[in-house]
Amino acid sequence: MKKVLLTGGTGFIGSHTAVELINSGYQVVIVDNLSNSTIDSLDGIENITGVRPEFVKADCSVFSEMESLFEKHGGFNSIIHFAALKSVVESVEKPLKYYNNNIISLIYLIQLLQKGGGGNIVFSSSCTVYGQPEKLPVSEESPYQPVASPYGNTKKISEDILRDTVNSNKSIKVVALRYFNPIGAHPSAEIGELIIGKPLYLLPYITQTAIGIRDKLQIFGNDYDSPDGTAIRDYFHVVDLAKAHVLALDRLVEKKNKSGFEVFNLGAGKGSTVLEIVKAFEKVTGVKLNYEIVGRRAGDVEQVWADTSLAQKELGWQTESTLEDALLTAWNWEKRLRGKEGK
Ligand code: NAD
Ligand code: WQD
Repeated sequence: MKKVLLTGGTGFIGSHTAVELINSGYQVVIVDNLSNSTIDSLDGIENITGVRPEFVKADCSVFSEMESLFEKHGGFNSIIHFAALKSVVESVEKPLKYYNNNIISLIYLIQLLQKGGGGNIVFSSSCTVYGQPEKLPVSEESPYQPVASPYGNTKKISEDILRDTVNSNKSIKVVALRYFNPIGAHPSAEIGELIIGKPLYLLPYITQTAIGIRDKLQIFGNDYDSPDGTAIRDYFHVVDLAKAHVLALDRLVEKKNKSGFEVFNLGAGKGSTVLEIVKAFEKVTGVKLNYEIVGRRAGDVEQVWADTSLAQKELGWQTESTLEDALLTAWNWEKRLRGKEGK
């Protein structure tokens, strides 16, 4: 059986990807330090797939812990590297924490892979590397723009590290996936996005407001150049995103990659404004959302959505779920978490 190490595999995107990998016949090993997830994800993965992946609690930025994991498994040929800290705001306050966690983890993984003779890495990158692109939709050819946060910089630097590594060592192959705005949860509501503290992103803020944990959603700015003045993003279902990881890994394992370092945008290929998301959420759930318009959020880009034609052509990937599916699953997950109305 093909074995793959998922760093950060108990997290939001990692847990959904674990499900799709197991369903596709991969043996999944998860390493996570549980800094932003809980072991409950394993129950969810097991309830959905009937398989409980092996789990190791360890910190990817501690070399000795990663070395023991690799030794125990006789190395790994394939890694999907999700583990990272992802709060833009916290990264501005504590940049070294982010550079240390996100960059050092990646370097150690590459070193251990090299020590074992090479292998495949699928890397979680982000549309944040595009900043505010000049041309929309944004393709992989678009240049990096100055990124507004140390978090964003860690993604750009990680891509640079991976590209340079591949150039110097032909035994390492990389696919970097630039995610746009993944939302939603598994349709079973067994796994979803766990929020520790205040939500960072729009969708959890919406579901927490709808369920009554938050008083109201603040919409950051309605004076952007968009149909209703609110900012535009490319929201898409996390299960679709998870499936893209299987295709990316298959591509590397089956040696179908066209170069040692490939990059793909992953999104719906369509932009929605914040108000459109709010309205769609209200329609699909029947819940009225309390919201107010406030000033713009510092560092926000006005609009960004993906050109996903390369992922379609090369990975054979495109989103299957609608925005409404994604919003409904996010809501069902929130209700499940809070124990209201069951699943
Ligand atoms: P998440 O926080 O739910 O998952 C990340 C997991 O990594 C968590 O379980 C956390 O405990 C773990 N982790 C962090 N540092 C670690 C370390 N040093 N050692 C071991 N485990 C560690 O986040 P997510 O939304 O699932 O994001 C996964 C990846 O995708 C991240 O790299 C993130 O930057 C990237 N990404 C996310 C989004 C998004 O909108 N969620 C968009 C673009 C890119
Ligand atoms: C979406 C829209 C907000 C919350 C994040 C990361 C970025 C990358 C992509 C990881 C924006 C508005 C939000 C709220 C609001 N991810 N909003 N009220 O801005 O695309 O960025 O995802 O790599 O690094 O920062 O996503 O969900 O934060 O915001 O009005 O309470 O919703 O202003 O227009 P964003 P988001």
